[in-house]
Amino acid sequence: MKIKSARYVISNAFVEKCPQTSLPEYAFIGRSNVGKSSLINALTNTKGLAKTSSTPGKTTLINHFIINDEWWLVDLPGYGYATMGKKERTKLEYTISRYILERQSLTAVCVLVDIRHKPQRIDVEFIEWLGENGVPFIIIFTKADKLSGGEAARNVAAYKRFLKETWEELPTMFVTSSAARTGTEDVLSWIEDTNASLNSQN
Ligand code: GTP
Ligand code: MG
Repeated sequence: MKIKSARYVISNAFVEKCPQTSLPEYAFIGRSNVGKSSLINALTNTKGLAKTSSTPGKTTLINHFIINDEWWLVDLPGYGYATMGKKERTKLEYTISRYILERQSLTAVCVLVDIRHKPQRIDVEFIEWLGENGVPFIIIFTKADKLSGGEAARNVAAYKRFLKETWEELPTMFVTSSAARTGTEDVLSWIEDTNASLNSQN
């Protein structure tokens, strides 16, 4: 997919204040610091579109970006930021869960997972929660540049084996690196195909 335009539109903490739209929407979620904002910038080829930081907990709101005036990318706050206060964490979890469960235009949730680690309980629990609530999702592995190709492939295979213990069918998965700009075309093609299949249904 060619990115013709990518614009920041609005940030807020409440699903009812998100843009009124019938266009498809893809939300990026995952542990704090996994690389959600960086991947949004890499996909759109727009440095600084989403705010990134080496300090976890940078994104605290639901951030809407409109791409090609045709579909939305949403940058969500990360979960599992250990040093965040309990009250603040509860507030973030409430923001995220209400957005995911109530957002009508949400086409799919993209769960970002750091490719360097074994399946982490917090990600697995979140994925199970999506499944229980019937929310469509894919998995995008991030930071592939930090591993050799062989190590990355081994970790993805291990992740698949792990998911197969509970899931009959595996979700769509992509391996990406925002730093090396790899895998981004694959993600964009998947979004393009998904948008096209939604259009043909309407
Ligand atoms: P929160 O908003 O705090 O939840 O974080 P986030 O998931 O949006 O992560 P962000 O994109 O801000 O990136 C966190 C850190 O990881 C930054 O220091 C990035 O430069 C780094 N990073 C992100 N993606 C990659 C990648 O593909 N490769 C490498 N090497 N570093 C990355
Ligand atoms: Mg962020």
